[in-house]
Amino acid sequence: GKGQYDHYMLKEIDEQPDSLANTLSGRITDDGDVSLEEFPPGTFEDVDEVQFVACGTSYHAALYGVQALENAGVRARATIASEYQTPTVDENTLAVAVTQSGETADTLSALRAAEAAGAETVAVTNVVGSSAAREADHALYIRAGPEIGVAATKTFSSQVATLTMLSHRLADDLEQGTPREDAAEFFSELEKLPEYVEQTLKTSNAKAVSERYLDKGSYFFIGRDNEYPVALEGALKFKEITYEHAEGFASGELKHGPLALVTPNAAVFALFTGRRGEGTRKNAEEAHTRGANVIGVATHGTDVGGFADATLRVPETHPDIAGLLANVQLQLVSYHTANMLEREIDKPRNLAKSVTVE
Ligand code: M6R
Repeated sequence: GKGQYDHYMLKEIDEQPDSLANTLSGRITDDGDVSLEEFPPGTFEDVDEVQFVACGTSYHAALYGVQALENAGVRARATIASEYQTPTVDENTLAVAVTQSGETADTLSALRAAEAAGAETVAVTNVVGSSAAREADHALYIRAGPEIGVAATKTFSSQVATLTMLSHRLADDLEQGTPREDAAEFFSELEKLPEYVEQTLKTSNAKAVSERYLDKGSYFFIGRDNEYPVALEGALKFKEITYEHAEGFASGELKHGPLALVTPNAAVFALFTGRRGEGTRKNAEEAHTRGANVIGVATHGTDVGGFADATLRVPETHPDIAGLLANVQLQLVSYHTANMLEREIDKPRNLAKSVTVE
């Protein structure tokens, strides 16, 4: 049950230190390497391209996975499952279906299309024995535990952590891959992710921030690199449970159109936790110049700049990990905003937890 909580969503946000500890458990070695029981070293030697298929939040996790692979020199792309119509694959393609439930119709049909075209397939899923797990050649479980709220929260962070580890295995196995040089340091930081999430939850000012911008007409979320998927995810969560107009953009795209929407009636959440946070600064400043309220999301040590109207802080860690902490702050902003607006939260209108029709 919900225990002391009014909503499953907040319970599941708060569970992330534990669910992430479960996801990572036994999968990182003492010398900071990845060890996946499902995939011993050498499993993917013949792979030359990775194609993710997924929907919604799982698609955003897949985009994070693409970043990790491309940074390691591995060809990768993510396609929204319902857009995966004529896959160009061969036996050296690894198609990875990312699906919490393992039952999403669009994702299952993309998985089947990849399989029919001759790709090797993996299901990254939360549900043991789900259709995706049974139909794919391999299953990799994210071990987040049951998620009841329609809004995906703890499963997103566990998907990203899992894909980060899978990406390292791939980069290690593939000839084209150059596994990260800072692997030992990176994976020891990843092991501390549960602690960092705990600190983020304990010190969050997301409720006060939410209250301050409750009357805005639009909410924008901007970021670059692996903060781009976090921006998309922040906006999806926000619109899904608050019913307010929200959009996520790659920060560099603002000036190519969306800036026309930026007025004093907008709140802009700008992500500064990644490798290219500096690049986002200019875009956030532009939004500020147009009269929007800019809320910076940054590590404690980052100087956000005078243009920010408010700041959401996260612990200092590797920039490829900090995006997940930023995401926790955005989950809380969505939750508190929806709660103050008295929305349904756990069962938003028109939506289902698992979408089993195409
Ligand atoms: O079970 P799946 O991960 O395949 O579900 C995909 C989407 O329906 C899901 O992530 C949806 O976008 C979430 N409710 C968003 O919070």
